Amino acid sequence: MEKKVKSIVKSKGKVGVVTSLQYGDEGKGRLVDYLAPQYDIGARFNGSCNAGHTVILNDNTKIVLHMLPATSIRSGPKEKKRKTSYAAVLACGTIVDIDVLRKDIEATGIDPKKVLVDERCPVITDEDREEDKKTGGKVGTTGKGVGPCMERQMKRTGKRMGDIKENERKSAISGVRIGDTREYLWQSIKEGKSVLFEGAQAIGLDIWHGTYPYVTSSCCSTGAVSSNAGIPWNMIDEVWGVFKAYTTRVGNGPMKPEMPYDIEEYVRKVGNEFGSTTGRPRRCAWLNIDDVKKGIEINGTTHLCMTKSDVLRGLESIVVKVEDREEVFGGFQEVDESEDRNFMLFIGGIEEMLGKKIDMIGIGPRRQDIKIRS
Ligand code: IMP
Ligand code: MG
Repeated sequence: MEKKVKSIVKSKGKVGVVTSLQYGDEGKGRLVDYLAPQYDIGARFNGSCNAGHTVILNDNTKIVLHMLPATSIRSGPKEKKRKTSYAAVLACGTIVDIDVLRKDIEATGIDPKKVLVDERCPVITDEDREEDKKTGGKVGTTGKGVGPCMERQMKRTGKRMGDIKENERKSAISGVRIGDTREYLWQSIKEGKSVLFEGAQAIGLDIWHGTYPYVTSSCCSTGAVSSNAGIPWNMIDEVWGVFKAYTTRVGNGPMKPEMPYDIEEYVRKVGNEFGSTTGRPRRCAWLNIDDVKKGIEINGTTHLCMTKSDVLRGLESIVVKVEDREEVFGGFQEVDESEDRNFMLFIGGIEEMLGKKIDMIGIGPRRQDIKIRS
């Protein structure tokens, strides 16, 4: 397995980015966790605790992270090959909720000294949270205060990490280092270290390219690695695009094509499609190729990972929307191309419509349930 991953991830001294191609919850966390052993540093560069990145270990332990990059899980005490050398970076552009960060540090067991937060990161206040709860209803925000905090940053009146008093920081996130993460990342890459940037939210929720006004308050594409974290585009080597074999959305906003109600209920149940940050049921629809294609284009995607194909197993037929038509595929019983011809036709059909190879397929919820395609 390790060898196979290395054949597509050439990470020594490399910079990788994981981005989402639909409306969030495609499984960025689990892909980041899977790729983590190939990298030295994990970094977030956008969004905040509105994100919920889930990793299910092989013993079925579920870890949901909201602030720390999912690479941090590999530093934890439960890991067989514990990697204590990791640095977890909240780069410039990440909006910080200090309490949530502390909980993530506890959940992963990472040494807080390995956590670096940029001094320029905006910090969410109680006021931001209250305002979001009052005003976020139309968009259906997560209510975590992210939008109002971003607003203050734009008004240039916001509180930032560097403004937090030493004693306040010490009591809440003791040991965590605050500084210039751009400088740190730049030097690390120059020294040959590899960095995996973990995007939050998705292109369909991007403030510019998403379905405005039903969007989040930050930029969610690869471009934000450059504009936020300050690592230029020509230092980025690999861009992973993650999408689900169907579509989900939590919060308001358009999503096509709709599934019949009973199939939607079934998919929600089998796929456990409930928000990992808010617990809200996610709306489910069939795969929309046009959405995914747009995400591939904007992100400069070099590799594709399709997740949750196992959730569709056992359905009689599967619909995929492309341009103005709907393609219907025969249902499959096995998520294995050599075992089930319909699965092979489904994967091949999607690749043809996207005009791009799918490099990895998620075939189950656990860490090991990823298949690398040669
Ligand atoms: P906000 O990011 O809390 O302002 O919410 C704006 C919209 O983005 C709402 O529809 C949220 O449900 C959605 N959203 C924000 N973060 C995520 C995420 O990580 N996954 C899925 N949807 C999200
Ligand atoms: Mg999520």
